[in-house]
Amino acid sequence: MLALRILVGTQTGVAQIVAQEIELRLDGSDIGVNTLLMDDIDATVFAGGGVFLICTSTYGQGDVPDGARPFYDELLNKRPNLSNVRYGLIGLGDKGTHAATFCFAAKKFDKILGELGAVRIGEPLFNDSNTELPEDEAAQWMEGWIVLCRSQLGIEASA
Ligand SMILES: Cc1cc2nc3c(=O)[nH]c(=O)nc-3n(C[C@H](O)[C@H](O)[C@H](O)COP(=O)(O)O)c2cc1C
Repeated sequence: MLALRILVGTQTGVAQIVAQEIELRLDGSDIGVNTLLMDDIDATVFAGGGVFLICTSTYGQGDVPDGARPFYDELLNKRPNLSNVRYGLIGLGDKGTHAATFCFAAKKFDKILGELGAVRIGEPLFNDSNTELPEDEAAQWMEGWIVLCRSQLGIEASA
């Protein structure tokens, strides 16, 4: 049994749709999913460690979404030890209009989580909404990511 928490940073809801799609695809599997909006959490979400999927868009000029800002700032300022945290990373962005800051919010989370001792599982997905539908690309990426989680955490898939 794998317990997965998806932490969503969104401005207009697309990242939430991505999380919903992942939840749907994992429904009926041995993976328990809990999706949380970054607007509603603080750094205590990481207490006790576990497996997390960061799923965030980018706004402004490479900024984290407004609602995710207090959570992100708390990580920067309080710097909790996250060495018992494992995470995957999905960034949503727009390379056509924002090439210079493409998926910067996801990259910012990746940087601070790494600095705080969390260990990323697998390569991130950086979705360019111009070329691939975010929820479709994310659901496909998630299949491989789950396989990696199982092997790195030593969890067998149940039949
Ligand atoms: C005002 C505005 C600013 C944006 N800035 C960036 C950016 O700096 N980098 C990027 O990769 N995407 C940027 N985007 C694209 C969004 O991240 C993308 O559309 C994403 O799918 C939105 O997801 P959300 O609804 O979960 O917030 C921006 C979009 C808007 C409307």
